[in-house]
Amino acid sequence: MADDEPHAEDAGAPAADGGAKGADDVALDPWGSSTVDDYRKLFEEFGIEEFDDVLGEVPIPHYLMRRGVIFGHRDYRPVAEAMREGEEFAALSGFMPTGDPHIGHKLVFDELIWHQERGGDVYGLIADLEAHSARGMTWDEIDEHAESYLLSLLALGFDPEEGELYRQSENQELQDLAFELGSKARFSEFEAIYGFDGETSVSHMQSVVTQMADILYPQLDEPKPTVIPVGPDQDPHVRLARDLATRMRFFKVTEAYASFELDDAERELVAHAYEALADEDDGETDVRCAEAADWLEEEAPESTALWDAVETLRAGGKEPLRPRVRFFDRNATDEAFEALIEAVEGEKRVYEGHVDSFDLDREAAEELAREVEVENGGYGFVPPSSIYHRFMTGLTGGKMSSSEPASHISLLDDPEDGYDKVKAATTGGRETAEEQRELGGKADECPVYELYAYLLSGDDDEFAAEVYEECVTGERLCGSCKEQAAELMAEFLEEHQEKREEARELLEDLDVELESGRA
Ligand code: TRP
Ligand code: SF4
Repeated sequence: MADDEPHAEDAGAPAADGGAKGADDVALDPWGSSTVDDYRKLFEEFGIEEFDDVLGEVPIPHYLMRRGVIFGHRDYRPVAEAMREGEEFAALSGFMPTGDPHIGHKLVFDELIWHQERGGDVYGLIADLEAHSARGMTWDEIDEHAESYLLSLLALGFDPEEGELYRQSENQELQDLAFELGSKARFSEFEAIYGFDGETSVSHMQSVVTQMADILYPQLDEPKPTVIPVGPDQDPHVRLARDLATRMRFFKVTEAYASFELDDAERELVAHAYEALADEDDGETDVRCAEAADWLEEEAPESTALWDAVETLRAGGKEPLRPRVRFFDRNATDEAFEALIEAVEGEKRVYEGHVDSFDLDREAAEELAREVEVENGGYGFVPPSSIYHRFMTGLTGGKMSSSEPASHISLLDDPEDGYDKVKAATTGGRETAEEQRELGGKADECPVYELYAYLLSGDDDEFAAEVYEECVTGERLCGSCKEQAAELMAEFLEEHQEKREEARELLEDLDVELESGRA
């Protein structure tokens, strides 16, 4: 990833990786080692979308967004839209209390706080059940670190009056939701998604459904767009949560043309035929199924979908094609299905297991389905969205790793140690000062530049751009550059730690249980 870091000029554009890399460079494993060598693969192989594509829709984007540190997303648009329109939205992320919070966690803390400042309902949680079951942490260790994460989150500006902090182990409502979601999750999926097998403990599996519940928890009061800011290693969880959110829905809304069902590809063909034929006589007479079959056989290119569509249409015979929206009963109670039938206004037709409406458009139908579901005891979940930040490079060049203190800066590091670590960091500098003046430094490969971009420049884009420019043009030499970064880091740590102390009182007043009382 060192060859591919963002900078102020060219935020988020992944550079060529320059070398042949195996497919194994990118494995999204929430509990494994989380290095990403090639961010492009995340777009191509995993379907994560580029953040740059939604950037323009975000009102006053966060500097991590502007600088391409937040490089990817899933379905962030509804969240950005809610933000623009002043509608409800939420953000939630979780932290495994396996060690001290470090500057990588600060990215997520800042993302949560930013969404809170934009008017979101924001949740921060301590993933203690996960730390215990997936990482084997003892409850004593967990208690010790849990408090520390919360203190840093508060110190950075999280408002606990507006938002909610909780521990998984203490939240009964969360665990109840996890149980419900578990009824829609299958072991075979866990095998496929996480590589679980016969040796995986049941508690570990339970921690997965607990995380699914975390992700959907902000929607317990009412459905709303929700963003989960995380590293890309958490993407498998996000995908599963999006699936489960959909599987829990009472109704599924689709478009249809006749009493029978079509799949997406067939529906597209039938829509085409219908429009062409209805146009021909200005909608004067009904378009019959059999006519549409004839039309398709003549006009459409051969394909499996075509043969299927034609066969289905032939079976429909003289039934007229009429566009409609269809509400499927996928999980609804009888009462909810009855209530839905009642609630559909205008012309409708009721079948076994579905209702067709001839007057509603798709969007209105979706809204109605959700409303009826919520009123009748369902959740009405909106599939959760996510944003993904880049992993920071370790100060020693490799991966930032909590087992290697010199590679990362803990938010609890003594300011002087923080200073020393920056001074000792690997850089993207040249062998000699002379060479550096001539060729410029390699800011894109420099962990120190990353510190400027991800943290030390704060909101000041000009400063970040200046460091970058001065570096690559050879005006800036590593010694003084590191000195400046080290001083800024020490200042940041000192101030942050003061604020942590101030936050202690705040934390005591909150009803977050800090002693689990578990052994
Ligand atoms: N699994 C996450 C981690 O390893 C922690 C976590 C638990 C989480 N629940 C969450 C993250 C909900 C985001 C949303 O760090
Ligand atoms: Fe990194 Fe600064 Fe050296 Fe450039 S001058 S390579 S940014 S330490």
